[in-house]
Formats: sequence, C-alpha cells, structure tokens
Amino acid sequence: MNKLRIALTKGRLEKSVVALLDGLGYDMSEICAGSRKLIFEVPALDDGDVALEILLAKAGDVITYVEHGVCDLGVVGKDTILESGKQFYELMDLGFGKCRFALAGMADHDFYAGYAKKVVATKYPGVARDYFEDKGMDIEIIKIEGSVELAPLLGLSDAIVDLVETGSTLKANGLCVYEEICDISARLIANIASAKLKAGAIKALMRQIEKVSS
Ligand code: PRP
Repeated sequence: MNKLRIALTKGRLEKSVVALLDGLGYDMSEICAGSRKLIFEVPALDDGDVALEILLAKAGDVITYVEHGVCDLGVVGKDTILESGKQFYELMDLGFGKCRFALAGMADHDFYAGYAKKVVATKYPGVARDYFEDKGMDIEIIKIEGSVELAPLLGLSDAIVDLVETGSTLKANGLCVYEEICDISARLIANIASAKLKAGAIKALMRQIEKVSS
C-alpha cells in the first residue's frame, strides 16, 4: 500500500480541492465535518492502492511543507508559487481557483502620468518587482497584508498588484484593472525527492485526477 501525504490550501481553494478528491472517490467526510483535527487519514480507493494523509494549511505553509519534504504533495495557487521562490516540482494545473494578477487602481487615475516614482501596494512584492523590472521601471513597492484595494483609496499608492477574480472588489471601490499580468489557478506540486521515490503513487493519483478532469 502506498501512502502520500498531501497539504491542501485552506480557504479559497479548499472547497474545490475537497470536491476534487471526493469526486475521485476518496472519503472526505471527516474533513467536510469541520473537525479541529489537523491531519486526516484517508483510505485508498477500492480499486486503487494510494492512501492519503491530508492536512490543511495556509498557502505559503503548503509550499514550505512540500519543499522540506514533510509533505509529498501540495495543492496551492500559482500566485503563491510565483511569490515563493522555493524549490519543488509543479506537476499539474488543476483548472480551478482561476483568477488573474492585475495592475489596478483608481478608475479616474492615469498610472503612467507624470515623472514621479510610482508607488505600488501589494501582498505580492516579488511578483510586482518582476513585472516592473521587465518594463524597466523603477517603482516603490509597499507590502500590504490584505484588503490591498485600500491603499490607492487612502492615497498610499498609485496602484496595486493583486488578484482579481470576479472584479467585484475593484468595482465596489471605484477601482479598475489597468493591465492584466498573468492567469492564476490551483496547481499540484511535489517535493523533489518524493517525485522520484514515490513516482508510481504520484503518477497513479495524477492519472485519477486527469480522468475526472477531462
Ligand atoms: C482577494 C484579492 C482581492 C479579491 C478579488 O482577496 O486580494 O481583494 O480577493 O476578488 P474579486 O475580484 O472576486 O472581488 P481576499 O478575499 O482573498 O482577501 P484579502 O483582500 O484580505 O487578501
């Protein structure tokens, strides 16, 4: 019997990834019951031999656990991957959790007007830095932990680099997208050693996922 330990991202992606594993036939009832337990043992499928040990963690921690090899696999947003700069394999686009990175700001503001150095607020300073480096633009980045849309509203920044899903947060606050940066979705990631040592079990799980996704 093969066992894979997999870290799932809490919050936004949680419902979809639990639904994915449930759809494969794994018994997710204990996780869905909202227990305070942190690690869940999930038996192998009747016709399979891959049992799972599942834990739920914050996105950045999912990557940390996978990088250090205490989890074989993880499910995490491409946004966190782009920001992390850590070492692991990205195996699969899971096709849910779709949104995009955008440069956004006040609808009545011209971001590129004037010669003053632009100020950009973001939860993703690495992504913002790379984006403006590619444009050859020197900007000031201010790190914000959440509700980043407040920064231009309060006059702290000229724009934000943030995730946009439905666009309703921007719209409700008089902001709009200036530029699309890249598409984001949930990814299956693997620890580098696990990808070799447990290749059979990982491939078996990926085949199951491919079957329900196609
Ligand atoms: C994210 C993101 C935007 C919002 C976009 O924030 O940072 O604020 O969702 O979604 P929308 O386009 O559907 O409105 P989240 O809700 O995760 O919380 P946070 O702002 O506190 O980080």
